[in-house]
Amino acid sequence: MSDLLQYDPAAADAVLDAAARETVVQRLVTARETLLGDLTDPPTSTSFNPLDIDFVDWPEKMLADDTELSRIEETASAFRDQNDEIVLLGIGGSSMGPRALFSALCDPFHNERPRQARGDSPRVYFEGDNLDNNSLVALLDRLAQLAGRRWALLVTSKSGNTLETAVALRVFLAALESRCEDPAEVPGALAVMTGAESRLREMARTIGCENIFSLPERIGGRFSILTAVGLLPAAILGLDIRQLLAGALATTRRFRETDPGNNPVLDHAATSITAEEHHGLSIRVLSVWTKALEPLGLWHDQLLSESLGKDGRGATPLTVVNTRDLHSRGQQHQDGRRDKLITNLLIDDPGSTPLVIPARADDSDGLNRLAGRTMPELLGAAIRGTNQAYAQDRRPTADIRLPRLDEFTVGQLVQMLMLSVTLEGYATGINPFGQPGVEGYKRQMHKELDG
Ligand code: PA5
Repeated sequence: MSDLLQYDPAAADAVLDAAARETVVQRLVTARETLLGDLTDPPTSTSFNPLDIDFVDWPEKMLADDTELSRIEETASAFRDQNDEIVLLGIGGSSMGPRALFSALCDPFHNERPRQARGDSPRVYFEGDNLDNNSLVALLDRLAQLAGRRWALLVTSKSGNTLETAVALRVFLAALESRCEDPAEVPGALAVMTGAESRLREMARTIGCENIFSLPERIGGRFSILTAVGLLPAAILGLDIRQLLAGALATTRRFRETDPGNNPVLDHAATSITAEEHHGLSIRVLSVWTKALEPLGLWHDQLLSESLGKDGRGATPLTVVNTRDLHSRGQQHQDGRRDKLITNLLIDDPGSTPLVIPARADDSDGLNRLAGRTMPELLGAAIRGTNQAYAQDRRPTADIRLPRLDEFTVGQLVQMLMLSVTLEGYATGINPFGQPGVEGYKRQMHKELDG
């Protein structure tokens, strides 16, 4: 069985205009050339400013030059050995990537299990992604109850001045300082991921923290999942970060080298643009068929929203978890406004032992007809049935298929989605980098606070 992710737009192709799609494919092939030209030094197209494009070749660079990767692994190993809990502070791209990796690749009850059953890694909590008093107080309470146990802080902010993260750092730093009996312990219980010369870097230096990871200048937050932002927490959790990068590198190679029709990045962008431009399908539903991928779906929501939601344009992303959401959003997706392209995210091998439906002597629920069948068989029937029902009503769907969920396949997937969104920006004239719209709320909020 191939280890590679597959993209299958056959069901969408049956509904979408084939000639229109072909034109879009040609635009994308040209856009790919422009994008690849921007990877050269100096970039050959200077139309996008900012040009945060270094995520494309980042996996190759990281794997080729071991320095940063080894430093991440060494720091992770120290944090793992020394701590029972890790609190990760960050928001947006500085939080959603690590959260997606945690959920996709760790046990869903990771934090509830004893240390040995967690693969000897710490529990992980996410904060600094809100101004929610209740949630902050609850986590501080939890940490305060862990008398005698060691916990540490990872702080990610590229700009180093995002209010949510910065105020959370003040609050948790105070808690860390009271947790550490010896003040000399504090710097070692802190790791910081930030841009050059940010206030956060300054603060870390003042504290004496040596675990400072510099975020690449030309990689924006939502594209930073495979930098130290995602890799340090992943390595602390015991995940194989080299395999994550190897998966991403496999996707970049396919993107560069393969023709349309066999190029998941380009093919996904082609279906998406055709659906939106020629059929008015402005809502992109990412339908994940395992609970573990919901945070990855939310990470993708951010990726699409901040990359293409500009100048009155850009499709609206929506993540659904099925079969759960068939019982909430399903009605609208089957029967509501015809404004959606549904992309299924499917995992061939769930990994866990298939549960068998037991027989019962009474059969009062009438389910003995399914006795002996497995849960994956039931899910397979739900997936096929749902998509047949969409097809019968000419509602387009496409499939992204992973052979299984592991570091190599998740690395492929995140790189595919980041490249596809970027390529779409190049083909449609929307700068996929930067997020000027986010500044609006910050300006107004600071006016409120500063008078
Ligand atoms: O994708 C992005 O760039 C944003 O979502 C940022 O990650 C988010 O605004 C947080 O910014 P910072 O990392 O500077 O605190």
